[in-house]
Amino acid sequence: KKAKMVLDKEFHVGEVDYRVYGSFIEHLGRAVYGGIYEPGHPSANEDGFRMDVVELVRALQIPIIRYPGGNFVSGYNWEDGVGPREQRRRRLELAWRTIETNEIGTNEFVDWAKLVNAKVMMAVNLGTRDIDAARNLVEYCNHPNGSYWSDLRVSHGYRQPHSIKTWCLGNEMDGPWQIGHKTAQEYGRIASEAAKSMKWVDPSIELVLAGSSGTQMPTFPEWEATVLDQAYEHVDYISLHTYYGNRDNDTANFLASSLNMDEFIHTVVSTCDYVKAKRRSKKTIHLSFDEWNVWYHSNESDRKIEPWSIAPPQLEDIYTLEDALVVGTMLISLLKRADRVKMASLAQLVNVIAPIMTTQDGGAWKQTIYYPFLHASRYGRGKVLRPAISSPKYDTKDFTDVPILEAIAIFNEAHEELTIFAVNRDVNEALLLDVDVRGFANYEVVEHIVLQNDDVKACNTAENPTAVVPHNVEIAQVDGGHLQCCLPRLSWNVIRFH
Ligand code: AHR
Repeated sequence: KKAKMVLDKEFHVGEVDYRVYGSFIEHLGRAVYGGIYEPGHPSANEDGFRMDVVELVRALQIPIIRYPGGNFVSGYNWEDGVGPREQRRRRLELAWRTIETNEIGTNEFVDWAKLVNAKVMMAVNLGTRDIDAARNLVEYCNHPNGSYWSDLRVSHGYRQPHSIKTWCLGNEMDGPWQIGHKTAQEYGRIASEAAKSMKWVDPSIELVLAGSSGTQMPTFPEWEATVLDQAYEHVDYISLHTYYGNRDNDTANFLASSLNMDEFIHTVVSTCDYVKAKRRSKKTIHLSFDEWNVWYHSNESDRKIEPWSIAPPQLEDIYTLEDALVVGTMLISLLKRADRVKMASLAQLVNVIAPIMTTQDGGAWKQTIYYPFLHASRYGRGKVLRPAISSPKYDTKDFTDVPILEAIAIFNEAHEELTIFAVNRDVNEALLLDVDVRGFANYEVVEHIVLQNDDVKACNTAENPTAVVPHNVEIAQVDGGHLQCCLPRLSWNVIRFH
């Protein structure tokens, strides 16, 4: 099979906002306790943070990390997690039915984020709590001193404000599973009022309104229209969440999942612009895709977890090659809309539906999905080009006209680098790709990285963490402004030009 891709510097979508390579740590399972924090572990530093995990996170160059939830935040009292550790309360955590010890809270997480060179995207509880708790947390984190909550932070040993710029107004408030689930009217109103007060405390912050938990929600996209109508002038972004899975073991169908993501983004952009027009507003709302990933492998075993344990293994999906390919296509979906998707969080980062796993006695290891994320974060910085692609197509149970080639290109003018990210979705055959790079005179291919395996269900494990790792393949040279290269069947490809 053959596909074509034409690239030109003059045709672009927009600059990649680095924050699309964000991630997420929730107080859930072994993400915090036994993940980023494990005092007594041989790699732990004096604060109890696992440096083996820090090292793997740093390599991903993650600019921003969402915290502390997720469903968790909708029952969280942030005051429980600050101040002397010995006085912190143990709480019944209702979202995941565990015990939360509160050993880690806002200040410790800010410390950890500094260690991994990331900013914090802080979520406030709009499930069980209200405007007051939200504005107090902004004051605690961002006000220099001289007020009750800022002085409390200083008394906790943090003289300098944390200066957290990005804040989420609750989480998945459209979902009946959410503690304090709300109708769109109820949520739109409280979010709008919380937003006003939070910005009155610190006008420099940016706010993310909670959008739908996925396109399958019966209230989508009316939810977006209603909540935006109420909060439009007080917020800057609206969130999107989605998770895909291969429950029917239908690889061709599963690999097409990102078409749903494309459609989701398109609908939310359209809804934002509809509300903009309706309100005669000059302001444009951007998108924060602040939860996205593959999640389904652990669903069954999670149902058997005994309630009220501390940091049990929850949502510990072990990812296959096909999952990594879906993650690759999802990254491409985010980049294709770089004009509107300004932030995103791979959900999550450590142990919980995560690219990084830990073992208690051993080290930390990389799942298959680590690699496409690593490549995109490392090489996907610059201008997103709008490629003209022609590809053979196929139909599946849920999708029609699925292109076998899913691809995007990033041009980093300052570094004189052009990078193509491409997935060959074909379950049987390699794809011969012709790339027209006549607009990039003197550029040569420097590297072609491939993530592939004969077995699409192959995965890395603690025992064998290198079963699926990327490798370099022989590079073809540009000839007459064209590159002809071969994308193996079911593969993630990174083709780098300089
Ligand atoms: O990331 C896991 C969970 O998925 C989050 O807590 C929630 O927001 C979503 O449903």
